[in-house]
Amino acid sequence: MTKFTGISPYEQRYQVEGYYWGVKPNDLAMEVLKLAFPDHPMKLLDIDCGEGRDAVFFAKNGFEVTAFDVAEAGLEKGRKLAEAHNVHVNFIQADLRSFRTTETFDVIYSSGVIHHILPEFRDELFRHYREHTAPGGFNAFNVFVRKPYIPIPPDSDGDDDTWYSGELLGIYSDWHIPVFKEEEFQCPSGDIPHMHCMDTLIARKPE
Ligand SMILES: C[S@@+](CC[C@H](N)C(=O)[O-])C[C@H]1O[C@@H](n2cnc3c(N)ncnc32)[C@H](O)[C@@H]1O
Repeated sequence: MTKFTGISPYEQRYQVEGYYWGVKPNDLAMEVLKLAFPDHPMKLLDIDCGEGRDAVFFAKNGFEVTAFDVAEAGLEKGRKLAEAHNVHVNFIQADLRSFRTTETFDVIYSSGVIHHILPEFRDELFRHYREHTAPGGFNAFNVFVRKPYIPIPPDSDGDDDTWYSGELLGIYSDWHIPVFKEEEFQCPSGDIPHMHCMDTLIARKPE
């Protein structure tokens, strides 16, 4: 599904002291909270949660959170972060390719991840996420998209250009779309400044 084989390169990146991605939540997590404030018990799934910054943020704000990632080193840091904030997150080691749930979630969320999902796996996987979302619930994702005038980033994992602009929106064309945007931005990672284009979507399943 992804081009990763064996151990994810993140397993090594997460060996560093401190938090590789920091502990501040992604902007997407903040945007989800504005739309889906848990004034009643709400279940959230964080797909490929890394070191848990968003999972812990959601738990602190009242969600019942399940979060998975393939990198055990990231999960270990996530557990420590949850403990430091005195919240519970159900951290699970799992591979996106095989993880399927029997539960229904109010929010299915993932940031910085789905560009790893190759085209041939998208239909089945997103059908699964959509089916396991409660009526009135949300799916929230961001994804790098290809633009012919933006070169492949120098620190690319090799799969940063397989989504086309608007593809994510198309997957959710029959849901409400409270948030969709496409942004081009400069990125300093890998020491060589380069450009990315990213689509961000929050979709709400009809009641
Ligand atoms: C860019 S990081 C984003 C982490 C987190 N969502 C965040 O924003 O802090 C991508 C994450 O995807 C995870 N990952 C990559 N391939 C995966 C797979 N096949 N199954 C599960 N996790 C995977 C990596 O371990 C890494 O933590």
